[in-house]
Formats: sequence, C-alpha cells, structure tokens
Amino acid sequence: MDTILILDFGSQTTQLIGRRIRDMGVYTEILPGDSAIDEALQKQAEKGHKVKGLILSGGPESVYVPGSPAPDKKIYGLEIEGKPMPLLGICYGIQRMTQDLGGKVEALPEREYGRKKVILMSGIGAYVGANNYSPLHMPPDFTAWMSHGDTITALAPGFIQTGTSETGYPAILAHESKPWFGLQFHPEVTHCEHGDEILASFAFDLCHAEKGWDMEHYIAEIRSSLPQQVGASPVLLLISGGVDSTVAGALLLKALDPGLVHLMYVDNGLMRKNETMQVEESLKRLGAKHLHIIHAEDEFLSALKGLSEPEDKRKTIGDLFIKVQEREVARLGLPDTYYLAQGTLYTDLIESGKGVGKKAHVIKTHHNVASPLVAAKRDAGRIIEPLAGLYKDEVRRLGRLLNVAEDVVRRHPFPGPGLGVRILGEVTKEKCDILREADAIYIDELKKRNLYDAIWQAFAVLTPVRTVGVAGDIRKYGWTVALRAVTSSDGMTADVYPFNMQDLLEISTLITNAVPEVGRVVYDISSKPPATIEWE
Ligand code: XMP
Repeated sequence: MDTILILDFGSQTTQLIGRRIRDMGVYTEILPGDSAIDEALQKQAEKGHKVKGLILSGGPESVYVPGSPAPDKKIYGLEIEGKPMPLLGICYGIQRMTQDLGGKVEALPEREYGRKKVILMSGIGAYVGANNYSPLHMPPDFTAWMSHGDTITALAPGFIQTGTSETGYPAILAHESKPWFGLQFHPEVTHCEHGDEILASFAFDLCHAEKGWDMEHYIAEIRSSLPQQVGASPVLLLISGGVDSTVAGALLLKALDPGLVHLMYVDNGLMRKNETMQVEESLKRLGAKHLHIIHAEDEFLSALKGLSEPEDKRKTIGDLFIKVQEREVARLGLPDTYYLAQGTLYTDLIESGKGVGKKAHVIKTHHNVASPLVAAKRDAGRIIEPLAGLYKDEVRRLGRLLNVAEDVVRRHPFPGPGLGVRILGEVTKEKCDILREADAIYIDELKKRNLYDAIWQAFAVLTPVRTVGVAGDIRKYGWTVALRAVTSSDGMTADVYPFNMQDLLEISTLITNAVPEVGRVVYDISSKPPATIEWE
C-alpha cells in the first residue's frame, strides 16, 4: 500500500496532517522526527507498504538552536524509482530543510500568527521544477494559517521562493530540480484555505500515491493477522460501553472465533440510564458468546459512602475498579496464556514531538486506572490493541462497517468515573437515579431536536444545592440540576454550545415535570479554560 511518512517535530497539528491525508485514501504514519530512515523504510516494506513521500512537520523549537530536533540526513539522498523522494516541509519542517541544506533561518521581530494572505509570485506560479516535476497546486492567492516565530532569511541552494505572505516573508518554496516543497503555513489546519487541495496535490501529483487505505482494507488486514497472533488463546476485552471499546469488541468478534472472545463489563452503578442493558444488547447483536456483565453497584456505592472530595471519589472508584476487575478475571479461570485487548487509538500512542511509540506505557483501560493486570500483560507481550492504527473518525467509520449501533458510534465521551464526578459531593443511589432521569431527558431531547451531533459533549450535573420552589400550593425544596453542552475537537479546550433559548426553556420544563426531586435547572456558560468540562 502506498504510504506517506510524517516526521514529527512536535507540532500540535502533526496528527492532523496524518488524518487529512488518510481521509483522502492514502495511508500515513507518524514517526519521531529523528527516526533512522533506513530502518523506517524497512519496517514499512515488511508490512507491504511502499513509501512514496515524506512530510516534515512543524514544531515549537528553533532550528538554529543547537540540539533542536533534526531528521536523519539520509532523507535528502533518498530515491524512489531513480528519482529523488518527494519531500514537503511544513513550518519548522521547511526551516529545518533550509538550515540542513545550507540556507539561513532567523527569529522574526514579531511572531506571525493566525490568518494571513499568501500570494504566489507572478511569473513563477505554482512552479514546475526544471525536471518537470508536477507543481504543487494552489490558487494564486488565498488565506493561510500561520504560526511561527522564525523565518527563512536565506534560501538553501537550489530552492526558489514561489509564494510570499502578506507580511513579506517567504511562504512557499520549491526546489528547482527536485520534488521538494516547503510551506511556511499549516495546510492541515481547517482555517487554512485550500489546505486539503495542497496536501492532495502533494500526495497525488508529487508522490503519485495510489489510494489504498480504507476501513474495509483495515478489517481485512486484522482478519488475516489477528488469528495468527492469538492462535487458540482466549482474548479478554474490558468494555466500557463507549465507542472505542465497543468497536474493538466488534472487530475481535469479526476477526476471531467468537468462542475465544471474552467481553467483560462492570456496572458500577454510576452508568447512565439503561446503559448496561444497551451495552448487553449491542454486544449480543454483534455475536458475543462470552459476555460477562458484572453487577457491582452495591460494592461501589458502599465504598463511596461518606466521601465528598472529588479526588477521594475518583481514587475510590479507580481502586475498586482494579479490585473488581482482578477478582472477576480470576473467576473466569482463563489460562495464563490469554491475551488482554484494549481499545487504544493511534492518537493515544503519539506524544507530540516524540512520534508514535515513545509515550511511556500507554494505559487505556476501562476506567483509566494504571491497572496491574494491564502492566503484567504488557510485560508478557500479551496485549492486543486492534484499533492502535486508527484515528477516532476512522474508528467511527469502522464501527459502522461492523454494524455497531449508530447510537454507540455517535456517542459523546463519558468519563471513567461516570456519574461519580457529576454528582457533586456525596454519591448515593437516590442521587444517581435522579441524575440518570434528568440526563436521559436532556440527551433524548438533544437527539429529537437534531442538536446532539452538533455538540461534542452534553450531560447533566446534580449540584449539592437545594432551592425553594412551588408545586401546586405547596412550597417545595428541590435539587438544582445544571446542564452542560460544549463544542470541542479533542476535549483540551471547549466552548459553550450556544443554545437557542427556547430549547433550553423547554428542556428545563420537561426535566422539572418528569423528575419531581428537581426544583431548578441552570445552564453552565463556562468555557474551558478556565472551567473544565466535567464539574469535578
Ligand atoms: P475535563 O473535565 O478535564 O474533561 O475538561 C476533558 C474530557 O475528559 C473526560 N474526562 C474523563 N475521562 N476519565 C475519563 O475517561 C476521567 O477520569 C475523566 N475526567 C474527565 C471528560 O468527560 C471530557 O470528555
């Protein structure tokens, strides 16, 4: 399969480069910027992948600072079918190429940040190299996205400037005789006009990559490799009910004999309304034979009794989860050779600036706890991560192909400690039930009003505040429920969802009518930062 490798120098948007090109049907992989290139190419070849081009990503450092990250110099001598390997440097990437190849990079008096016009230089246009390599296609002027504190002050020999930013700095470079290009801006960022067109032009016109990447292909690859890896050993997957673990379960059931696949789900009493039932139904529908639903509600609620500090609650839930998990896994009596599967995603494995695989011991378990079980299995080399090559959007696509229910595929994120961090103060069964009802009405309404998919995460919170109200002629003292809805792309930052007031008014009335214990509904209008998405 044709592949484009991305050398990561630490930009926040490196992953986006990979995603955008994969969305075009061309496989990408992100590697640490300083990877030994021969080894990297060899690894790809072993997988049957053919590397057709390299992208050098952006990064936060300055290329002129000694010790700043640099690629293996051999990348400048690589050839493919007797011609130089196509290279695209983005921001730090082109500055790095410039510095490595004899040009000069210096600090700008003032950082260039945000939307800036880029103008292609007249007479040069998008530039066709002397060897008639295809040009990088883009319109004569457009608005790009810049974020850099350094600029190129002398081009490396062989390069020419083909585009300039509105502030007068070099924005696009091309090599006279090699399929090498540089962009000072970030085509991978959605604010950059024609960004996809530019990346597509690199992938298809310069690298001549053929489309070979889609989820059908991924399923076929896993179906041929996974049975070989596990042989006759059983595989255990802990299911949380979220997208990743459910799709991982569906994939295991498709790729392996379902008789080997054990799925375990712990109901800790802090799940949403009907969640356990839905998880059970959807996994059975996917062909699960060994589904172990552990009902541990009483155990968790007793452990939480009297605790009101958020950190105490989180720790108690996490520790108990490990205890229950170990006990229940032991109870299954699987042979020691069993494999433990996790729904780790590609993004979980990448630490910006270090590339894939450098992140110390990624732990993604059901409740984000550093489980000794996972550590032991990892040490024994018996962890399976069938989604580890995928981005979240791809997992959703895969889920649909595997017939995972649309409701699960579209589901908003849900924190490991569940309602435990959405009931402020002490958690009781009664409060869980109140919150479950209010939250279900809220989420149901969002779906009915076609608002659910426009929101990244929405949920109700039970505050410890009771306020006075009236019901009929009687004064009543009811709980205050807060509604939260945010837009976000990764949960790191979030904006408040700007509801139409009428929707909020109607949802509030529905909640107070249906849940008599709730006397008041408020809407949280705090973005992140400074507020976090969850309240505890
Ligand atoms: P915050 O509240 O930190 O949340 O802004 C960002 C995202 O992470 C989720 N979250 C958690 N997820 N275990 C999880 O699996 C947790 O302990 C946890 N705490 C917060 C939160 O729901 C949001 O999507």
